[in-house]
Amino acid sequence: MDFTVLTLFPELVAAFFGHGMIHRGIERNLIAGKAVNIRDFSCDRHKTVDDRPYGGGSGMVMKPEPLEEAISFAKKRTPEAKVILMTPQGTRFDQKKACEIAEGMKGLIFICGRYEGIDERVYTQLVDEEISIGDYVMTGGELAAMAIIDSVSRMIPGVLGSSASSQSDSFIDDRLEYAQYTRPEVFNDLPVPGVLLSGNHEKIRQWRKRSSLQRTFMKRPDLFETQAPTAEEKKILRQWCRELETLVNQ
Ligand code: ADE
Repeated sequence: MDFTVLTLFPELVAAFFGHGMIHRGIERNLIAGKAVNIRDFSCDRHKTVDDRPYGGGSGMVMKPEPLEEAISFAKKRTPEAKVILMTPQGTRFDQKKACEIAEGMKGLIFICGRYEGIDERVYTQLVDEEISIGDYVMTGGELAAMAIIDSVSRMIPGVLGSSASSQSDSFIDDRLEYAQYTRPEVFNDLPVPGVLLSGNHEKIRQWRKRSSLQRTFMKRPDLFETQAPTAEEKKILRQWCRELETLVNQ
């Protein structure tokens, strides 16, 4: 998977490519990442990338020509890559989309806007897809592009070191991840649940399933609407219900 980020702040993105799991994935040739400075593709001697909006108004608009040139440059590296514009007006990014990209695409070219916006002709002619990471507006698309690269990369086999780690993630199968514990066995008077120390793998699996369901029920009940409980989940939820009833009737 090859990521190219077109930005006015390449150092910001290069720092991201140079750290942690993403850096390790790049070193192992599992992913490739390049930050490209849009300003390098400006043709005038002042290296202008923005201009005043036609029709007046406040703020500046990113000019189309440097963006077009930067996209052509990126496409020479990865001709099969999709061009993604980071914008709060785009389709909302989620775990499902991260899986789709990780499984089905060879490369992505991100356009990170700054200023008030981007010339409309870039949207209509040069962009394959517009993506948002949520209903809030940031000063640029870099953080959004990095969020997507991060979540897609960790789905690529080998990037996390163990493929099992991303399989138990929150949102896989529309459920939140179960509670995790490490040493010490007792922390601030709170012990680790005994079953996790038992070595009984089936009991541990059941406990984790229940923990994942309880968390989903309490923190994100809306996820039961996208994915109705399975027969096994219903059984666990009924058992939990019975336990709560016993507790309140005491
Ligand atoms: N650029 C600015 N805000 C954004 C957002 N919420 N998502 C994607 N790109 C953005």
